Parts: sequence; C-alpha cells; structure tokens
Amino acid sequence: MIRDDVPKRARKASGSTTPGSGPAAVPGRNGGGKGYRRVAAFGGVYSNHLALAAAVEDARRREVDAIVCLGDLGAFGPNPDRVFPILEESGAFVIRGNYDDSIARGLDDCQCGYTDPMDNHYARISYQYTFHNTSPENRAWMAGLPYEKRFRLGDLDVLACHGSPRQMNEFLWESTTPDHFLEKQAREQACDVIVGTHTGLHWARRFGSRGWYVNAGALGRPANDGSPQVYYAVLEAEDRELAVEFVPVEYDHHELAREMREEELPEEFVETILTGWWTTCLEVLPGKERARGRW
Ligand SMILES: [Fe+2]
Repeated sequence: MIRDDVPKRARKASGSTTPGSGPAAVPGRNGGGKGYRRVAAFGGVYSNHLALAAAVEDARRREVDAIVCLGDLGAFGPNPDRVFPILEESGAFVIRGNYDDSIARGLDDCQCGYTDPMDNHYARISYQYTFHNTSPENRAWMAGLPYEKRFRLGDLDVLACHGSPRQMNEFLWESTTPDHFLEKQAREQACDVIVGTHTGLHWARRFGSRGWYVNAGALGRPANDGSPQVYYAVLEAEDRELAVEFVPVEYDHHELAREMREEELPEEFVETILTGWWTTCLEVLPGKERARGRW
C-alpha cells in the first residue's frame, strides 16, 4: 500500500519527461518528513537493454515509488543506443557513471580504473565500440547527467552515487571496504544510506548505529556466480528501518549473446553472458571476490 504522503510510483513517462529528470517531487535532502517507501536501484547497464527492460518491468510490478539508475549505461554489450528509450519510458532518475562521463566528454578511455594490461585491452575494445555506436544526441544527453542524487526514503537520507561519494570510479568491494570508511563518508555527506554500483558485484552492509551501504550490482553482466541472471536492488524503508532485497533478473541472454556476436564483440564477453562467469577484467578483483569466480 502506497501512503498518500509519498510521491506517485514510477510509471510510464509523460511526453515531457526525459531520463534523468525522474519522477516529479523527489523528496529532497535533509528536508524532514517522510520520503519514498520503496525504491528500485540499478546500475551497470552496460548496454544490456534486454535485462534493463526486464528489471524495469519487475520494479513496476513491485510498485516502487521511484527508479534510480546509478550509471554506466554503455560498455560490454551490443547496440548501446537501445538502452535510452527504455530509460526514458521508465521515468528513472539517472546519475552519471564513469562510462557515461567518458562517452559524453569524448575521453580516450572509460576511466574504469583497471591497471592490468589485458584488462585494459578488453576495456579499450569495449569503449571504442560503445563510443562509435552511441548517437551524438545520446552523448549530449549524458553530458547533462548529475554525479549524485539525494532523496528521502522513510526517515532516512539517501545519497545515490556511482562509485563512492568521493570518487565516481572508486571500487567499493565488500571484502576491502571497512565500516569506518563508510561511517566517515556518511558523516561527511550528511546521509544515512549510500547506494552505489561500479564494481558489478552486489552487496549490502549495515554500519554504525543507522548507516547502510548498498551496492546495487549490475544489470549488464552476471555477478560472476555461474548463473546468467543479473541483479538490481529494492530498498524499502519504514521510518528509520531499511530492508534491502537483491532481485535476480532473468532475461533472454541467448538473444543478447546473438546480438553481441552480430556486432563482433569479443567471444570472451559472450561467454560471460552465457555462463555467468567473468572472463575479462578480473585482475581488479580483491582476493576474496576473485576466489568466488571460476577464473
Ligand atoms: Fe563504473
């Protein structure tokens, strides 16, 4: 049941609504009062328009009040321009990822933060493909995306960002992110909940007396767990109590693989979509996260 004092749930956008503008009347920062009750957060779309469409449909079924897209719309997958109409139709509020920032500004690389030569080799292939297949109109639109979004969820102040609150392309891995770091970030940002993505692996942790960090994972590629499904997060608040659910999304990954081959993307990328195991850009993983995968 949606209360009367929260904004309308995410719905089909009107003619005047564009991705990035989001649903009207977003509860603002530290404004007091009740905010949204239930919000869907997803990131790392990586051109996976089929998973994006499935996630939006699932979020609507759950009657979320808002959808927040945490950025990295392109990369890895095929036909990047197919993502934008789905975002527009969803009414999602979109923030800027490192990939979007690079594409919009015409930078030489994706600012992914890789250091290994093979990681960078595959990142370069992915970036060049995405850059040359994203329309000038969509590039211009990404140039207007904000770096963060603040809203109220129940009685909680939420900061949505891409990497970390202090750096767009900072990896916050579960095994290497201490509580005191999260507490400091929340204190400096005057928020209770930090929501991010960028790593591609979903996780959540409560810290301090009321803080939460939620990494929404990625819609664009599986979570390196041997399953082709991908994930997004649903955050639901009752007063100051937060519940986080990671929702598995099944979509036609065989069709995505077919598109990827048609676009002559690396077979290593296709293998990840079909098997659920990461085959590239692995060197950036900390030991614990690496040990959970096959390679
Ligand atoms: Fe990213």
